[in-house]
Amino acid sequence: MTDPREFSEERTDSTSHPGPPRQRPPVQHGGYAQDPNLPPLQPAQSQYPPLPQPSRSRPEMPGAPVRPPKRTPRSGWRKAVYVGSGKLINPGESPAERRQRELTARVNQPLRGCFKIAMMSLKGGVGKTTITTTLGATFASLRGDRVIAVDANPDRGTLSQKIPIETTATVRHLLRDADKITRYSDVRAYTSQGPSRLEILASEQDPAVSEAFSELDYLRAVSLLEHYYNIVLTDCGTGLMHSAMKGVLDSADALVVVSSGSVDGATSASATIDWLDAHGYGDLVKRSIVTINSVRPKAGSVDLDKLAAHFSARARAVCQIPFDPHLEEGAEIELDRLQPGTRLALLELAAAMADAFPLKGL
Ligand SMILES: Nc1ncnc2c1ncn2[C@@H]1O[C@H](COP(=O)(O)OP(=O)(O)O)[C@@H](O)[C@H]1O
Ligand SMILES: [Mg+2]
Repeated sequence: MTDPREFSEERTDSTSHPGPPRQRPPVQHGGYAQDPNLPPLQPAQSQYPPLPQPSRSRPEMPGAPVRPPKRTPRSGWRKAVYVGSGKLINPGESPAERRQRELTARVNQPLRGCFKIAMMSLKGGVGKTTITTTLGATFASLRGDRVIAVDANPDRGTLSQKIPIETTATVRHLLRDADKITRYSDVRAYTSQGPSRLEILASEQDPAVSEAFSELDYLRAVSLLEHYYNIVLTDCGTGLMHSAMKGVLDSADALVVVSSGSVDGATSASATIDWLDAHGYGDLVKRSIVTINSVRPKAGSVDLDKLAAHFSARARAVCQIPFDPHLEEGAEIELDRLQPGTRLALLELAAAMADAFPLKGL
């Protein structure tokens, strides 16, 4: 069994810590080292008494670290004390607020080019579409850049049901009109945008047509989207052999392998990883995150932490998404309606994913 600490150590802390204060090099007269044979240089003597110097409010202590101002609390009793005391008493932010701020900073890490994330699992109903939408919405709501989710399900994908629909256009229409697309506003006509700013590009709803959505079609769609979007999430179909899958895997920068919290869900997530390893995608697996998504209210007899430890030996990180009544509805998803624990878990997933942004192209 893998030591779960391995997992936590793998996470990189992106906050920079100030190093020890630097000592200034000794100032040398005229910028040159003095000849040791010459008498020591004296500062020029003036016949006038020295001018009075303005007093400094703080004595200058070289080497003393400058303490940053305490952050103000945004919730709970700390905020009550801060506001109630007329902002005279500042208890500082709570550990939870600090954690949230650090995660948000990680989610907002700079990103060069377009980062492509694919959601995968051998099994249906484990939450691929749900995670695509909620992870995409978390990125879109916190980052200033453009985020899109693409439905690559060969069989009537449900991604477009997760946000209010603005257009009936699908990826098929986008590919048909690809020659005429020269600006962001041109692509935007084919997408729907939710309250989080996440955009969605729907799949063909006619199963006979969408079955023909090939690897080349997917690659053409992605190479168009990467000009206008910074993050492209792909909601893959169930199974690994459908027509567009090779294109999805060859262009992905990272995967989210989705597992449910049940034994069969975890077994098929393991089988997904085995298949990827055996088919030359081992490097992609190492850059991937396993997400254990609780589609049932109770975990039953399965120890989710043991499951997480099992996957942490195989992937870059493991995240757990709790059961959430709003997600269970299976309808349009609004981040504001999720429980605080679910939002925090999604923030952790987005932060763990964003830790790979600097590795892109290396
Ligand atoms: N974290 C969750 N909490 C509660 N219900 C969930 C959660 N994730 C998924 N679900 C439920 O599971 C169903 C299947 O999820 P979905 O994302 O459509 O799976 P997939 O795309 O893998 O087939 C959803 O309609 C929803 O009802
Ligand atoms: Mg789905």
